[in-house]
Amino acid sequence: MASTRTPSPWQLATRTARMNPSAIREILKLTELPGIISLAGGLPSALTFPVEAVREATTRVLRDTPREALQYAASEGFGPLREWVAAEMARQGLAVSPAQVLITTGSQQGLDLVGKVLIDAGSRVAVESPTYLGALQAFVPYEPEFVGVDGDGDGPLPDALASRAAGARFLYALPNFQNPSGRSISAGRRAQLARAAASAGVPIVEDNPYGDLWYDVAPSAPIASHWREGTIYLGSFSKVLAPGLRLGYVIAPAEVFAKLVQAKQAADLHTPGSTSASSTRSSAPAFSTTTCRRSAAATARSAMRCRRRSSLTCRLRGRSRVAGRCRAAACSSGSSCRRTSTARRCSSRR
Ligand SMILES: Cc1ncc(COP(=O)(O)O)c(C=O)c1O
Repeated sequence: MASTRTPSPWQLATRTARMNPSAIREILKLTELPGIISLAGGLPSALTFPVEAVREATTRVLRDTPREALQYAASEGFGPLREWVAAEMARQGLAVSPAQVLITTGSQQGLDLVGKVLIDAGSRVAVESPTYLGALQAFVPYEPEFVGVDGDGDGPLPDALASRAAGARFLYALPNFQNPSGRSISAGRRAQLARAAASAGVPIVEDNPYGDLWYDVAPSAPIASHWREGTIYLGSFSKVLAPGLRLGYVIAPAEVFAKLVQAKQAADLHTPGSTSASSTRSSAPAFSTTTCRRSAAATARSAMRCRRRSSLTCRLRGRSRVAGRCRAAACSSGSSCRRTSTARRCSSRR
């Protein structure tokens, strides 16, 4: 008997033909098999997740500022978190205003927004070879033409950038512990790349989710510090806090920033959590505490003091996993910030 199925009423957009299932998701499926410890994806160890601190901070936000936490909020993101990011970037050598920081739902969303705002069908996009599959996946729907820029153990070659990337909308580069190769770009090469990109008129999209995972030597200042008006910088809390929180950020020059915000408004209005306690000052310490793995048991006053020290304590936390010496200094401050001195002691060992 002949089939009586009616034809599908759906006609997919042409761009969907270029979309493929994420190779990363396929890799992640493998990591769930018993007995597999996969080094293929950028998965942080679940043992490092600050479960208790997140629980306490969430409880405190919902206790102290429940209505602000549950209301719609600004698309740019939670103000104190934007300030924290700007202060942290200044410490790393990139002076930016909080007004340039857009909080995103993971840096993966940042990549999608960048693609949406900068890529037309047929635009050239220069990428390292190899590069992060998830970035290719984010850019592909906007129908770019990818050009690979050759590199060596020190990163993309400035000459290759000049010859291959001419006319490209941007170069997508991973400065630290590159996914998938693991290499980092030296300070000298960063400066050369920025110079080559500026003289070729090719802006840079610098994606740095792994930069805070260093052991002995901190990464060099971002490429963006060499060409601020020509670089969009993406950061993530996934690798140092927990990927399930879906929290990242994009730092962009003013002329691109407004368009990124509009693209984000269309995508998801705002990032949950980062804006959860947006309209009152007292909620700021609670959220900052969450993002810095600090205990929300601290009072608002002591947590505000902790917030000022947060970059120090987060770094200590990073080192504690390596050295096993500073663990106590990285956890809850308590209401009287008794651990300040411990934190200082640890910092002097760096
Ligand atoms: C290079 C790179 N960029 C961006 C991301 C996305 O990170 P997020 O969890 O912040 O969306 C990843 C995730 O593994 C990554 O490896």
